[in-house]
Amino acid sequence: VSRLVERGCVYVVGAGPGDPDLLTVRAANVLAAADVVFHDRLVSDEVMARAPAHAARVDVGHRAGDRRQDLVELAERMADCARRGLVVVRLKGGDPFVFGRGSEELQALLALGASCEAVPGISSALAGPAAAGIPVTHRALAASVVIVSGHERRPPDGPRWDRLRGDTVVVLMGTARLASLSRQMMDAGWEPGTPAAVIMGATTPRQRQVSGSLNDIAERAAEVGLGPPSILVVGEVVSVAPGLTAELTAGVGAPE
Ligand SMILES: C[S@@+](CC[C@H](N)C(=O)[O-])C[C@H]1O[C@@H](n2cnc3c(N)ncnc32)[C@H](O)[C@@H]1O
Repeated sequence: VSRLVERGCVYVVGAGPGDPDLLTVRAANVLAAADVVFHDRLVSDEVMARAPAHAARVDVGHRAGDRRQDLVELAERMADCARRGLVVVRLKGGDPFVFGRGSEELQALLALGASCEAVPGISSALAGPAAAGIPVTHRALAASVVIVSGHERRPPDGPRWDRLRGDTVVVLMGTARLASLSRQMMDAGWEPGTPAAVIMGATTPRQRQVSGSLNDIAERAAEVGLGPPSILVVGEVVSVAPGLTAELTAGVGAPE
């Protein structure tokens, strides 16, 4: 039996990577009961279509910027809707706590005394590679995976590659800086020939991907015109993908 969706509550919900079938049951139930949905720009139209037609939709993509004040104002607006007895959904791409500032928004809401619930989502950091047939761990190839922000300012000077080690590295928010990110990784000791892939729009009809090695992945991604939202995956696991996707494709509609 599903838990009730309460009126007067703000739900900070992970929308998953894009495919509406990858919403959690809780996320889908909460969204179906929404009176107002405050959504990031990255949330797909297909997911937004799961909100009721009467629900108000507020795109806060451009406002949820770096300014603390924007975040506080947004929290005040959502808390106000909840106080009026509405079911308020704050919908964020992937998982709200993976580079999504969900925790900061939740803190701001709690400071305002709002009733809140966090609903986890499937992060693009895991679903993106999987959608391209890349397992982020593999018994023979990778026993660890690190998820890194490729943002130039977070942390302040970009990723601390000297401190990061993982058999598989998944970089989010790095599309515009693929060349410098891969150069920094090689400078920090990753082999230039390490398999790498870029996946754009994972799990959506716009999904496209390209693979190569750390030393040419930026060039390959540029050649085929991959842009945001994309993730970079680096590690031996990338070499598993062609076999895995061939097997999966062969399994689809195969004769009895
Ligand atoms: C601000 S972060 C938010 C991540 C999100 N909370 C999550 O767990 O997936 C935005 C980044 O997520 C990645 N991203 C989100 N959805 C994606 C998708 N469908 N395909 C590829 N990358 C995606 C991109 O790297 C994008 O720059």
